[in-house]
Amino acid sequence: MLYQKHCSGCHGINFQGGNAQSLVDGVWQFGDSTGHISRNIKHGITHLGMPGYEKVLTDAQIRSLVDYLKAAEKNAAPPEHPLPVYLQTLDYEIDVSVFAEGLDTPWDIAFLNKDTALITERSGTLRVYADGHLFSKPVEGTPEVLAEGQGGLLAVAFDPDYLEEGNQWVYLAYSHGLEQQPNGKRSPAMTRIVRGRIDGNLWKDEEVIFEAEREHYLTTRHHYGTRIVFDAEKNLYFSIGDRGTGAHAQDPSKPNGKIHRIQRDGKIPNDNPYRRTKNTVKSIYALGNRNPQGLAFHPETCELWESEHGPLGGDEINLISKGRNYGWPIISYGKNYNGSIITELTHKEGMEQPIWYWNPSTAVCAIDFYSGDLFPKWNNKLLVGSLKYEDVRILSLEGNRVMHEEIILKNAGRVRDVCTGPDGAIYVVLNDPGTILRLTPKKQ
Ligand code: HEC
Repeated sequence: MLYQKHCSGCHGINFQGGNAQSLVDGVWQFGDSTGHISRNIKHGITHLGMPGYEKVLTDAQIRSLVDYLKAAEKNAAPPEHPLPVYLQTLDYEIDVSVFAEGLDTPWDIAFLNKDTALITERSGTLRVYADGHLFSKPVEGTPEVLAEGQGGLLAVAFDPDYLEEGNQWVYLAYSHGLEQQPNGKRSPAMTRIVRGRIDGNLWKDEEVIFEAEREHYLTTRHHYGTRIVFDAEKNLYFSIGDRGTGAHAQDPSKPNGKIHRIQRDGKIPNDNPYRRTKNTVKSIYALGNRNPQGLAFHPETCELWESEHGPLGGDEINLISKGRNYGWPIISYGKNYNGSIITELTHKEGMEQPIWYWNPSTAVCAIDFYSGDLFPKWNNKLLVGSLKYEDVRILSLEGNRVMHEEIILKNAGRVRDVCTGPDGAIYVVLNDPGTILRLTPKKQ
């Protein structure tokens, strides 16, 4: 089936969307005529991450795909996700409840304590959850984001010393667009990190703590990364995707396709690997990453683990070490989405192997280690969310090896984030519908 083979990775197995939008929602942003749709498939919409299929599919095949999509659109029922209320896993019977709903493409959730959380919506709003409910009004005055393609308001994190006197810093990662260009050109954009404080319902004291040089901003609208995590020394780590240009991931003079490390005020830690190298981005901690959207520290070893969207068949889990090169796009287990070869190499000296990879790709998004009291058998196992298969998996590890993978939640919606809450429950952030689920062991 042409669709399943070439398109489902991004547009979803049931056309519902995944990495990219739904193709059966009746919305054709780029033209709804057969001619427009055919041209979009043939030449792609490359600045948004839609590959061109000119070299892979014949005109007749493209035409048959268009007919197929049109028929599917006609038959499509409104998306419906009966939320599961109960799950059976190898170790636990689980109750599923709705923690928050009615969100607009929620992307990340950060907990301050078991009663308070912040949630980002990709369209650019920051929502507060406190004392048992989601506040209807978003925080006012948060930075303007460029919410196009995969971009928008992405990661959120509380300062490790938030509760210390006067600290109260909250960190945000988002797609930042430069001002409108003359001659109607698309404005270049890049991932940016700020911190600020929330006072009442107002965002204030904003400081930019990471910003790329303007020359590194790109007009593409995909592969921004990102997550924000802190190590034991309270350094801040974040990721930026390759922004659609794989070769940049190998170039230390560019910020994209990298894992970065900075201090909380934006200063560069003394032992950053490129700190003393000319013409490099000093915040780089590791390089050669395609589109990392999951970062988590192992609760015991304190090692940094990462998940990254690969190309077709190359989604990865990596163990990130300082200064190492994770190989994209020189080595990869995947192919381009349009079937063309990226590289014949899966190994190369000086480049790290993933701990785990998926073929076919799952559109891996967030990761977190379970650590809590509610599911003691899952402590130190890795929770992984998938956008494409709409599931949450749990990986059992022995040292750095994945010994077993189990799907614990299925068919609920596209999973953007998964994390352990301070109460030991597992929280799952879903898109379509914009809902956050809470998983707890079934009460006997
Ligand atoms: C690598 C991911 C990816 C793959 C694979 C992919 N697409 Fe897309 N596609 C996108 C993105 C991203 C967009 C831009 C839409 C958006 O704004 O999210 C898009 C847009 C489109 C559009 C325009 C939709 C509109 O609203 O006008 C069509 C049609 C389309 N894709 C068809 C296909 C078909 C058919 C295939 C398989 C041959 C395919 N795509 C494979 C990512 C992908």
